[in-house]
Amino acid sequence: GGAAAASGLPFEPIAPVASTVDEFTVPAGYRWSALVRWGDPIFPDAPGFDLANQTPAAQARQFGYNVDYIDVIADEGGLTGVLVANHEYVNPAIMFPPSSDPAELRMRSEIYKAAQGMAVVEVERDAIGAPWRIVVGGRRNRRLTVDSEFALTGPAAGSDLVRTAADPSGRTVLGTLGNCAGGTTPWGTVLSGEENFNGYFSAPADTPSRARYGFRQAPTSTGWETWDRRFDGTAPGYENEANRFGYIVEIDPQDPTSTPVKHTAMGRFKHEGANVRIAEDGRVVAYMGDDERGDYLYKFVSKHRYNPNRADAAARKQNLRLLAEGDLFVARFSGDSPASEITGTGALPSDGAFDGTGEWIALTRKGRSAVPGMTVEEVLVHTRLAADRVGATKMDRCEDVEPHPTTGRVYVACTNNTRRGLDYAVDEANPRAANRDGHVIELTELDGQGGTRFSWSILLLCGDPAGISQTYFAGYPKELVSPISCPDNVAFDGEGNLWISTDGAPSTIRKNDGLFKVPLEGPERGRVQQFLSVPRDAETCGPIIRDDEGMVFVAVQHPGEDGTFAEPTSRFPDYGSTAPGAAAAPRPSVVQVWRG
Ligand code: FEO
Ligand code: CA
Ligand code: CA
Ligand code: CA
Repeated sequence: GGAAAASGLPFEPIAPVASTVDEFTVPAGYRWSALVRWGDPIFPDAPGFDLANQTPAAQARQFGYNVDYIDVIADEGGLTGVLVANHEYVNPAIMFPPSSDPAELRMRSEIYKAAQGMAVVEVERDAIGAPWRIVVGGRRNRRLTVDSEFALTGPAAGSDLVRTAADPSGRTVLGTLGNCAGGTTPWGTVLSGEENFNGYFSAPADTPSRARYGFRQAPTSTGWETWDRRFDGTAPGYENEANRFGYIVEIDPQDPTSTPVKHTAMGRFKHEGANVRIAEDGRVVAYMGDDERGDYLYKFVSKHRYNPNRADAAARKQNLRLLAEGDLFVARFSGDSPASEITGTGALPSDGAFDGTGEWIALTRKGRSAVPGMTVEEVLVHTRLAADRVGATKMDRCEDVEPHPTTGRVYVACTNNTRRGLDYAVDEANPRAANRDGHVIELTELDGQGGTRFSWSILLLCGDPAGISQTYFAGYPKELVSPISCPDNVAFDGEGNLWISTDGAPSTIRKNDGLFKVPLEGPERGRVQQFLSVPRDAETCGPIIRDDEGMVFVAVQHPGEDGTFAEPTSRFPDYGSTAPGAAAAPRPSVVQVWRG
């Protein structure tokens, strides 16, 4: 019960905030709070956050570091639910003071394992539209760390490419790494992409695959390779350990005893995330980006059909297997304007649009390899090498890729690519040389969601219209939009508007990153409006838009990242509070914004 929700999210766009300002800013008429912070206990036996006495055991029972994907999944009635979050990476230089004590550094190395992974935390509130509180010790509360068990699914599970001395079956992996964006499925699970997993290994680039995925034999920031053979790419018996990361992971947040999985059928690359839509025939289609300069856009189409009967336990079990079997495709874009009109400046070609058609090229077909000279296991473990062979289009770093909930059009955030025009020629889908500010592509499937032909156009060429980049906002007047740079995560509200969060605006347009609303239909199509701004050095993640409840959720990732422990550049979110559990250090947090 309680007061009715304040429906809708009316707001006047906020002014962009200078990148030297350490504030979380929301529009007039809104309030915010940190729902949960790095180090907050989520189990009754966890100690309160105490940075000077932090331990690996404490961290494994507390909320982790650097959250990217979040969702708040409400139970029936709307007053209880679960927050699901991932913990992408750690920032050692601002978590702890400098030390050269080997015992201290080893302990911290273990803390870094416990601070990454995922979290499920029950939440409750007094009324719909009112802020949530976390429930310490909630029945579904869970932390997954770099030592938690995950099961491999799909054609590469159990193959020679993923077996190790500790796991000769090639089916059980300890931990998940570099979890970035994600998506919640229609069957209630959460997907998350293992992105920059290569950086946790010290491994020589001694094979085509290791070279293509960016492995290096060099000390890592977490130091695991010095004491855990799994992360030493030269350790006998562990040559394949790195082949067990770089997947889409799936977790069922309703069942704390379930084993989370990694889906090899969805390919292995620097997975930004995955977002699902049910095709007209009931098959499941997942869209996915590989976030590296010059890498690719992918989609997965399931073999089996989604069963929407939530009350049926057998149907639920089938749905949990949907992403284990199906086919993987990679995108080839073709522009419709003459190449001579794609000048690299961002000036529109003579037909008035960066647009064209495209094709989804099969990498697997009916669960078998569709790439000559590669087995299905090789395609799914060395996916970048497979995509290289079929002529996929090299993109400007695909981040979050999300199908629209009603139109089915797919929105692809290409965050930036400063090497475009140098290492990769400009093309109509990636038309700006030295693409500093990124762009957003709108893709329309032509043969249904699971089909292989599409059309596309560039919705936004991001930047500050008053700045140096040539910008484009779907034709909307440039002087009336909020400046936006480096689009990263995307989401939709209940009215079908696109929302974009950014990562990188401080280094391009000298503004803090933020969250922006963009209408897609009618006269306001392309009108970018800034809703919130995050603190200094932080990236805006999540986001979740609950306009029906007048609420927005974001994850504030790596606040104060460019500072040091001794001289922090951010004190978010405690800002000098002396309340129990408050800290002087910046703390990555999940933030809720509500009308009030
Ligand atoms: Fe973790 Fe591609 O951003
Ligand atoms: Ca064109
Ligand atoms: Ca991202
Ligand atoms: Ca998203």
